[in-house]
Amino acid sequence: MLRIRPFSLPDLDSILQIESQSFPKSPYHWTTFLNLHTLYPETFLVYVNPSTPQPEDQGLPSTRDFGELSRAAQAEGLRVDPERRSSTSFSKAGFGAAEWVNTNRGQKEEEIGGYIIFTQDGHIISIAIHPHHRRKGIGTQLLQRVMKTPHLKKVWAEVRRSNEGAQAFYSKMGFQITGWVPNYYGNEDALVIQWSPATIKQQD
Ligand SMILES: CC(C)(COP(=O)(O)OP(=O)(O)OC[C@H]1O[C@@H](n2cnc3c(N)ncnc32)[C@H](O)[C@@H]1OP(=O)(O)O)[C@@H](O)C(=O)NCCC(=O)NCCS
Repeated sequence: MLRIRPFSLPDLDSILQIESQSFPKSPYHWTTFLNLHTLYPETFLVYVNPSTPQPEDQGLPSTRDFGELSRAAQAEGLRVDPERRSSTSFSKAGFGAAEWVNTNRGQKEEEIGGYIIFTQDGHIISIAIHPHHRRKGIGTQLLQRVMKTPHLKKVWAEVRRSNEGAQAFYSKMGFQITGWVPNYYGNEDALVIQWSPATIKQQD
C-alpha cells in the first residue's frame, strides 16, 4: 500500500492545517500550494497515515481535476516564488479556494501526516510533518524519497537559524551546512544545508 504519493486537491485542507501549525510565522498561502502542484506535480508528495482508509478501499477517486482552478489562479496573475515564503503576492486570490475547501470537507478519507515539495534538481522547497506525527520517521521517509531520486547531484534546503529541530533532523540525514543567506526570511537568516550522493560514495 502506497504511503507516499503525489499531492492531489482533496489534500489541500490537510496540508493547510499542517502548514499553519508548522510555520506559524510564514505559512504558504493556498494559491502557493496550487502553483507548486502545477510546477512540480511529481515532486510535491504527501505521506498518508497508515490507519486511514485508502481511496481504492472506498471506491473514491484518488485525485480530482483541479486544473481549472489552477489555471484560474494563473490567469489571475498568481505566481509562486519557491525561494521565499510569502503570501503577499497571492493576496488578491479571493476566489474559489475557501469555497472549494468547504465543499470538499468531509469527502476526504485519508489523513495526511506530512508533505515534501522539491524541484527536479534537488532543491527542497518545503517539508512539514503534522505536530502529532513527528518523531515517527515520517520526515525521514519523505526526505529519503528525495535522496534516492536517480541522477541528483545534490539535495539542498534553507533552514531558519532558529530552527534547531529541523537542523538536527537534516544533520541526522547526513546534510551539512554549506552557507547562509542574510535576512532570507525577512528578519532572520537562512542556513543553507546540503547533501550529496558523493558523500556516501566517499564514506564507502
Ligand atoms: C523537521 C521535521 C520535518 C522532522 O520530521 P519528523 O517526521 O519529526 O522527523 P523524523 O521522525 O524522521 O526524525 C528523524 C530524526 O531527526 C532528528 N530530529 C527530528 N526532529 C527533531 C527535533 N525537533 N529535535 C531534535 N532532533 C530531531 C532525530 O534524530 C530523529 O530521530 P529520533 O526521533 O529517533 O531521535 C518536523 O519536525 C517538522 O515538520 N518541523 C516543522 C517544519 C519544519 O521546520 N520544516 C523544515 C523547514 S526547513
